[in-house]
Amino acid sequence: MRNPIVAGNWKMNGSASFAAKMSQQVNVFAAGLNVEVVLSPPSVYLSQVQQAAESYSTAAQNVHFAASGAFTGEMSVSMLQDLGCEYVLVGHSERREMFAENEQFVAKKVAAVVGASLQPILCIGETLEQRHSGQAFDVVKQQLLSAISGLELTAGQLVIAYEPIWAIGTGETATPEQAQEIHSYIRGVLAEQVSAEMADKTRILYGGSVNAETASQLFSQPDIDGGLVGGASLKIEDFKNICSAAANR
Ligand code: PGA
Repeated sequence: MRNPIVAGNWKMNGSASFAAKMSQQVNVFAAGLNVEVVLSPPSVYLSQVQQAAESYSTAAQNVHFAASGAFTGEMSVSMLQDLGCEYVLVGHSERREMFAENEQFVAKKVAAVVGASLQPILCIGETLEQRHSGQAFDVVKQQLLSAISGLELTAGQLVIAYEPIWAIGTGETATPEQAQEIHSYIRGVLAEQVSAEMADKTRILYGGSVNAETASQLFSQPDIDGGLVGGASLKIEDFKNICSAAANR
């Protein structure tokens, strides 16, 4: 059985007092809950949120693949190790689109994260146009394989977030059937291209307008192992309900 994950991606939202309040409240509700709760605050609050962690883990929203050097504004995997941070979001569609991160760039980041024994949460997903033209399966397969090719991955080390771009921040969640179809396909690609053990142990999260109403049905699908939650992770009651839905699936 794969232990579900619910990761809250705050994106560029919050403040020091918000971070303090969320950390404290998540510590309370996540204790004893049968789900791995992960908080991904802006990097400036990562140390604060990590230090307060009692019953959750943390994820960086970004990392650079180089070990050190002249990369103004960036941080390295060893800096994340210093903090005790376990996960890193890689390949989020906002970074691919707005910060021009291409597949080669994403692959280098995944390699750096894996090389440091951290866990990448690799985000993949198609645009609405690609879905309508029947390319959704090919797009996610290409994004997945280009990101992990040539890597020695321990089964379970990689976490994948399927995030259809048309569902991110739009209020339009994929139906449980649409999401399950792609999740099962992704697991099949892992089985075929990597190993059966890898396919079995990889947690595949759904992301894209997950909310307290849609979470239960999504998480009850056999290949959906939790969620990557943006907007709803900023509201404590909603986030709590989403985490409970993953625990009770
Ligand atoms: P959303 O964001 O839940 O606000 O759609 C999800 C994400 O981008 O990870």
